Parts: sequence; C-alpha cells; structure tokens
Amino acid sequence: MSRGWQTFSALLLFIGIFNNACVEGLGVNWGTVSSHKLAPETVIQLLKDNGIQKVKLFDADPTILMALAGSGLEVMIAATNLELADLGDPTKAKDWVHKNVIPYNVNSKDGVNITIVAVGNEPFLQAYGDKFTGVTAPALKNIQDALNEAGVGKTTKASIPFNGDVYMSPLYNPVPSAGIFRPDIADKIRDILKILSANNAPFIVNIYPFLSLYFAKDFPLEYAFFDGATPLVDGKIQYTNVLDANMDTLVSALKVEGYSDMPIIVGEIGWPTDGDTNANVTLAQRFLQGLIKHLASNKGSPLRPGYLETYLFGLFDEDKKSTLPGNFERSWGIFKYDGQPKFPLDLSGKGENKTLVAAKDVQYLPKKWCVLKGDAPTDANLADNMNYACNNGGDCTPIQDGSSCNFLDAKQKASYVFNSYFQIQNQSNTSCDFKGLATVTTQDPSVPNCNFTIQIAPSTSTSPAHGAHSSSHEQGKSAASTSLPGTLATILAFATMLAQLRL
Ligand SMILES: *[C@@H]1O[C@H](CO)[C@@H](O)[C@H](O)[C@H]1NC(C)=O
Ligand SMILES: *[C@@H]1O[C@H](CO)[C@@H](O)[C@H](O)[C@H]1NC(C)=O
Ligand SMILES: *[C@@H]1O[C@H](CO)[C@@H](O)[C@H](O)[C@H]1NC(C)=O
Ligand SMILES: *[C@@H]1O[C@H](CO)[C@@H](O)[C@H](O)[C@H]1NC(C)=O
Ligand SMILES: *[C@@H]1O[C@H](CO)[C@@H](O)[C@H](O)[C@H]1NC(C)=O
Ligand SMILES: *[C@@H]1O[C@H](CO)[C@@H](O)[C@H](O)[C@H]1NC(C)=O
Repeated sequence: MSRGWQTFSALLLFIGIFNNACVEGLGVNWGTVSSHKLAPETVIQLLKDNGIQKVKLFDADPTILMALAGSGLEVMIAATNLELADLGDPTKAKDWVHKNVIPYNVNSKDGVNITIVAVGNEPFLQAYGDKFTGVTAPALKNIQDALNEAGVGKTTKASIPFNGDVYMSPLYNPVPSAGIFRPDIADKIRDILKILSANNAPFIVNIYPFLSLYFAKDFPLEYAFFDGATPLVDGKIQYTNVLDANMDTLVSALKVEGYSDMPIIVGEIGWPTDGDTNANVTLAQRFLQGLIKHLASNKGSPLRPGYLETYLFGLFDEDKKSTLPGNFERSWGIFKYDGQPKFPLDLSGKGENKTLVAAKDVQYLPKKWCVLKGDAPTDANLADNMNYACNNGGDCTPIQDGSSCNFLDAKQKASYVFNSYFQIQNQSNTSCDFKGLATVTTQDPSVPNCNFTIQIAPSTSTSPAHGAHSSSHEQGKSAASTSLPGTLATILAFATMLAQLRL
C-alpha cells in the first residue's frame, strides 16, 4: 500500500472516530448520592454510547471500579475530605493506595485507567473554615509518594479539586490579569503547588457560572453563556464569558506563584435544570451546548489558549443530596435519575442537532403512584404529613418556589410529595398511607411539565465488596453533600468586576 493511501485511510479512520465521539477531553462527574442507582454496567454502557471517555468519581467505590475494569475509560477517583487527616500519616496513605488504586491494575488494558486520585473535594471552601487547610498538603504528598513508590506515579497523579473561591482578583483591581490566591490560604496553596509541579500533576478547579447568577441577582446573565456578550476589557484582552475570565484569574494567580505552565483541569462545571428560576432546561442546554462548542473550538481562554480538559457536573440528578446550597442541588444531571436525557445535546460540539443516548434496559417499579385522596381536606394535618414525606427522603424540591412543579395546586402538590416518598420507599405497602390521607393508584397523575416519577427497580448488580466498603462510602457522601459547588467570593468579585467593566 502506498504511503499516500495509508495516510488517506488513517484520515478517514480519524474522521470516522471523531464523528461519533464527544469533544476530546470531555468527561463527566458520576455522583451517586441517589436513593435509587442505575447498575454500574448500565452507566458504563451509557458513557460509551455517548462517546464519553473520562469519568470522575467522588470516592473509590469498589463496585463501580470493578465494573470499570477493561472499559478503556479514564477514571478520576477520590479520597474524601474526611479521610484527609488520616492520609497525613504516610503509612495510611500507602494503605489507601494499595486498597483503592493498585488492585485495579492501572497500566493494563484489562484494568482501570485511574489517571488521577483527587485528594479531597474543595477542601479550602470558605464554608469549611480551617477544617481541612492544615491536613490537605500532607495528604496530597503522601498519596503521590505512595503512587510513585508503587511504580504508577507516571500515569496516576494526585491532585486536589478546588473550588474557584481559592483565587480572586483584588477589589481595587477586579480583573483577571490581577488574579492571586486567596491571602488566607496562599501559603497552603504554595505547598500544594510545589508538590503538584514536582510530579507534573494538574491543578483542578470547579467553576459554576450558574452560581454567579444565583448569588448575585444583578449578575449580567449573558456573561454566564457563550453566545457573544458585549466584550469586557482587561487591558488588551476582551472577555465575553465568565468561564474565560475565571480561568484567566487562575492562570494569573499561578503565574504570580511561578507556575505559568501548570496544566489546569476543570473538575466540575454545569447548569441545573430545576430548583431556581434560572435553573431550567432551556438555560441548561444553552450553557452546556455553548460550553461544549467552546471546548471543541480548542480556543481556550485568552491567557491559556488551547485544549481544556473538562468534567461536566453531572451525569445524573441525585435525589439524596443536601439542599443546603439551594433547591437546585439535586438537579445538575445532563440525564434524569433514570438515565433519560433531559434535552438535546451535541457532545461533539460541531453544531449537530443531536440527542444524548439514553440508558439501556432500565427496569422500573410497577406503574403505581401514591396520591392524595379526592376528599381529603387541605389543612394543617395535611401540611404535617407533607412535611413528613419531604423530611424523610421524599424529594420535594420540584414543588418549591421557582421550581418546575410549583404551578400545581395545593392538592396536586400533596400528591406529588406523597408519591415521591412512596417511590423512594420502593412502593412499599405501608408508605402510602399518611394517616389515611393517601391512596395508591394505577392512573398516572402526571400533568404536562410535571412528571410524577416512578422509581427505578433495585439493581441486580451486587457485590460483596460493596457492603464491606459502605461505611466509608457513606461518609464520603455526607462530605460531598455538604460541599457547596461554587465560588462565593470569586463570583461576587466577578459580579463586581463585570458590573464595573460594564460602566
Ligand atoms: C490511560 O489513559 C491515558 C490518557 O489517555 C493513556 O495515555 C493511556 O494509554 C491509558 N492507559 C491504558 C492502560 O489504557
Ligand atoms: C428559563 O429561565 C429563564 C430565566 O429565568 C426564563 O426566561 C425562561 O422563560 C425559562 N424557560 C422555561 C422553558 O421555563
Ligand atoms: C432538533 O431536533 C428536534 C427533534 O429531534 C426538533 O424538534 C428541533 O426542531 C430541532 N432543532 C433544530 C434547531 O433543528
Ligand atoms: C402488600 O401489597 C401486596 C399487593 O397489593 C399484597 O399482596 C400484600 O399482602 C401486602 N402486604 C402487606 C404486609 O400488607
Ligand atoms: C415526563 O415523562 C415522560 C415519560 O418518561 C417524558 O416523555 C416527558 O418528557 C417527561 N416530562 C417532563 C417535564 O419531565
Ligand atoms: C429501595 O431499593 C433500593 C435499591 O434500588 C435500596 O437501595 C433501598 O434501600 C430501598 N429502600 C427502602 C426504603 O427499602
């Protein structure tokens, strides 16, 4: 075969591969704080069907990791914040690596390609105060040392997903080029940068333009998106979206510390579809499609042009997450709880009108719903029973102010929360009573724009290892669920910056 023909075939193959794939470097966060989880095998098939090659976990669940073996997916696993103090002991860090990394044969095609171990999750979040500031750098160093010692440090890097609130621009000069690390933690960050740099590990940051809007109602909406806002000027640079401005604040802060070239990964970015007036499918699609197109262009940001590895948050809605950050917190998925896509999304970023591929072979509970009896009075007793449902696992966020099902009348709202509780209780006989106020029906009470869901049936995939690991897994969940994904200070600084630049 001639060389020219080989090149031509290679080119065809190349085009073929990338026609079906999602944009290079795009990953997703696979959170599992859900009452009903899809089987790991179902999720992995979903990732493959959508051409997603990278996945980020919030722990090191052996059930999931075993299912990922041989999948070819690149995997980021995590130690939780609550494990950080222990990992300050080099022996315990070694144990962690030998329990959660080494058994998965990271450098074999049949293993799990663990590319990053996330050491904690947003440990320097301002909301946590000083809880983790002292223990994070030692844990990072010990994990990376253990990886190096075990001979996998070249391919498996330890890093820390930070919230964007670890850096900022000073109020007197609120522009990206003036970015610095937050003064109260700058010395701790310096220790961490030294370790990352010595091991060629990336800096990981979570960025949430949605929260810019949520926390600063006067935040100019159009800068959260990627469709051409009026440029804001920082010296010779023009910014039309807050992601670029936020990235460049980090790039500037890294430069101040002498790490101009440190690789940066966006560990979480996304847009919720319920729980706030700005959390709906229209805006989520606009944000995510704009983001993916931006990534596909490989333009990067003005100060860091090129490819940007990015993990969407998140894969699924998670109905057991804390609503402390806001009612939107359970609705970040690009897929619903059951693996059904919420809106068309072209993961290639090439402007195709495509829909995500849904999860296959999902088994649901029977078509039964729990509703308020027709003659039940709407009184204090009903309110008490509704509160019981909402406070005991039922997901009532969709009926709150600004949410998708808020338009329901009082009786429909009662049915909505009773059904949510009933489904979360796996439709058990006793879970649809509410002191005689409720009854089971086989007639779908859903109305246009508000679905009364049927939960997914218990997954048949069980593994003995899962039970053994469940207690630390639970801890991880609670740590993750209290984590506030977003940058208060930075966002407010940006809101100020954008407002000022706008004048
Ligand atoms: C793991 O992923 C990296 C990054 O894409 C790749 O270079 C490496 O070949 C993969 N390792 C295996 C064993 O597949
Ligand atoms: C989504 O939210 C935006 C901003 O609040 C609003 O203008 C728009 O009408 C909403 N779209 C839908 C379909 O609810
Ligand atoms: C995208 O496809 C859907 C059906 O899959 C269609 O309803 C919609 O109008 C299309 N949008 C555009 C912009 O072509
Ligand atoms: C629960 O409901 C099923 C079907 O309706 C019935 O067969 C079963 O006896 C009930 N169990 C209890 C404990 O009431
Ligand atoms: C309700 O569920 C049906 C069936 O799964 C789906 O087609 C529809 O899009 C859903 N509607 C909403 C508002 O989620
Ligand atoms: C319902 O089933 C799920 C599995 O899908 C299980 O994890 C959960 O414990 C069950 N809940 C109750 C209240 O029985």
